[in-house]
Amino acid sequence: MKIFLDTANLESIRMYNDMGLLDGITTNPTLLSKEGGDPHKTMKEIVSIINGDVSLEVVATEYDVMLEEGRRLHKYGDNVVVKYPMTADGLKACKALTAEGIPVNVTLVFSPNQAILAAKAGAKYLSPFIGRLDDIGEDGLHLIREIKQILSNYNFGTQILVASVRHPVHVVEAAKIGADVVTLPPSVLGKMLKHPLTDIGLKNFLADWKKLKTENPNIRI
Ligand code: E4P
Repeated sequence: MKIFLDTANLESIRMYNDMGLLDGITTNPTLLSKEGGDPHKTMKEIVSIINGDVSLEVVATEYDVMLEEGRRLHKYGDNVVVKYPMTADGLKACKALTAEGIPVNVTLVFSPNQAILAAKAGAKYLSPFIGRLDDIGEDGLHLIREIKQILSNYNFGTQILVASVRHPVHVVEAAKIGADVVTLPPSVLGKMLKHPLTDIGLKNFLADWKKLKTENPNIRI
C-alpha cells in the first residue's frame, strides 16, 4: 500500500519525505488555505520536493475551465495528478485530460456508484472520503470494501486512494482490505510511529547503558 501525505504543509512534507515514507501528496483548496501565502508557490514547491504523484485540485466547476485549470496545474511538473470533483463536468474533464496523457484523481467519492463512474471515466485514482462518512453515521471502511470488490471484478486500472483518514485504525483496516493508497494527515502518520512500549523500552536501554558507562567511563558504541 502506498502512503500519501494529505497536506500542503511544507515542513511536514519534508520531514516525512526525509524518512522515506512518502509515495505522494494530496492537497485541496482547504489544505492550501490553512497554510496561507501564495498557493501557486506552495504547489510548485511540493511538486519539486516529492518524487511521486502530487494531486492538485481545480476550483472551476464548468468543464471548459476545469480543463484549462487542469492543464495549467500539470505544467508544475510531470508528477502532477489533477484532482477533479465527482460531478458530471468533473467526469467529462477526467476523460478529456486522461486522453491527453494527464492523470486524474476523482475526489469527493461517497458511493460505490460514483466509484464505478470515476473508473469508467478513466481516473488514475478515485478518492472515497471515509472519515466524512463515519461523521454522518455511515461506515467509511465498508465503502472501501465495496469499491475494492467492484474494481477487482473488472480491469479498470483505477487505484483506490483512501481519503479523509482520521486515525491509525483506518489505515490498518484499509491495508487489510487491500486499498492501493491511503492519504494521511501528518497527525495520523505521527500517531502510527508511536507506541508507549517503544518509549519505555528505549528509556530502559539508555538507563542501563548509562549504568554500564559509570563502571567503564571510556566505552562507546
Ligand atoms: C484527500 O484528498 C482529501 O482532500 C482529504 O483526505 C479530505 O479529508 P477531510 O475530510 O479530513 O477534510
